[in-house]
Amino acid sequence: MSDEMVAVITGANRGLGLEFARQLAGRGYRVVITDRDDRISDEAAASFEREGLAWNYERVDVTADSDVARIGDALRQNFGRADVLINNAGIQGDPGIPEHPEDFAIGTFFKAKPETALRTMNTNALGAFRMCQAVIPLMRKRGYGRVVNIASGMGQLADMKGGWACYRMSKTAINALTRIVADEVKGEGILVNSACPGWTRTQMGGATATRSVEEGADTIVWLATLPDDGPSGGFFHDRKPYAW
Ligand SMILES: NC(=O)c1ccc[n+]([C@@H]2O[C@H](COP(=O)([O-])OP(=O)(O)OC[C@H]3O[C@@H](n4cnc5c(N)ncnc54)[C@H](OP(=O)(O)O)[C@@H]3O)[C@@H](O)[C@H]2O)c1
Repeated sequence: MSDEMVAVITGANRGLGLEFARQLAGRGYRVVITDRDDRISDEAAASFEREGLAWNYERVDVTADSDVARIGDALRQNFGRADVLINNAGIQGDPGIPEHPEDFAIGTFFKAKPETALRTMNTNALGAFRMCQAVIPLMRKRGYGRVVNIASGMGQLADMKGGWACYRMSKTAINALTRIVADEVKGEGILVNSACPGWTRTQMGGATATRSVEEGADTIVWLATLPDDGPSGGFFHDRKPYAW
């Protein structure tokens, strides 16, 4: 078994996922960067190498059962452990999403298609569902794990509004997954939480978003590295509990 702590991150070829990888690798984790395409960009790979960070790559499309099964096997064979899982892969789904969240008319529910809802749910919520089933058994063997599901304020029932129906429903669903899994592993040393990174400058967030990726990553990296007496089954934003 590897002596290094191993952190697995989905959709980590760019944006927030790549930043989680960079920050966790900087803290001494071996990061397993996964994405659905081929591999991370040459530029990102070169910067990891330059900084002497420990990383591996695995192709995982979180909507593909076979890819998810393969990553479970690869982790078992290559490291014998998985300490952190960040379910980050996500799509916006709803077409025509404008740069400014106030202007949601173009993303109205009445133009949303059921097939878009299915596709968005399949990536954003069932992707995490599959990954939890594949990776948490390895955590259970060692009695240690930190799982962070990337949700969004857009999925808060407490503040649910119109627009972006497919995305919102998928993020509410990933929050339900957090509660379910956290309860099932209670007392086993595995802490499972949801987080909202805030509106962050990535391909999804757009150039006018208010946060840098470093800022957006802060709460997620904090949850991924919680001490043993840390919270589980919660939803966090800026390191504080956030209404469901
Ligand atoms: N940015 C924000 O303001 C914001 C706010 C709240 C929550 N979030 C959440 O934060 C997470 C990261 O978003 P981001 O802002 O970094 O967006 P991003 O730059 O668009 O990154 C999304 C990542 O998910 C990957 N992905 C999409 N479908 C996938 C699949 N089927 N299998 C594996 N990977 C897949 C993408 O890979 P490809 O390159 O192959 O497309 C990409 O790496 C998402 O869950 C998002 O909903 C973002």
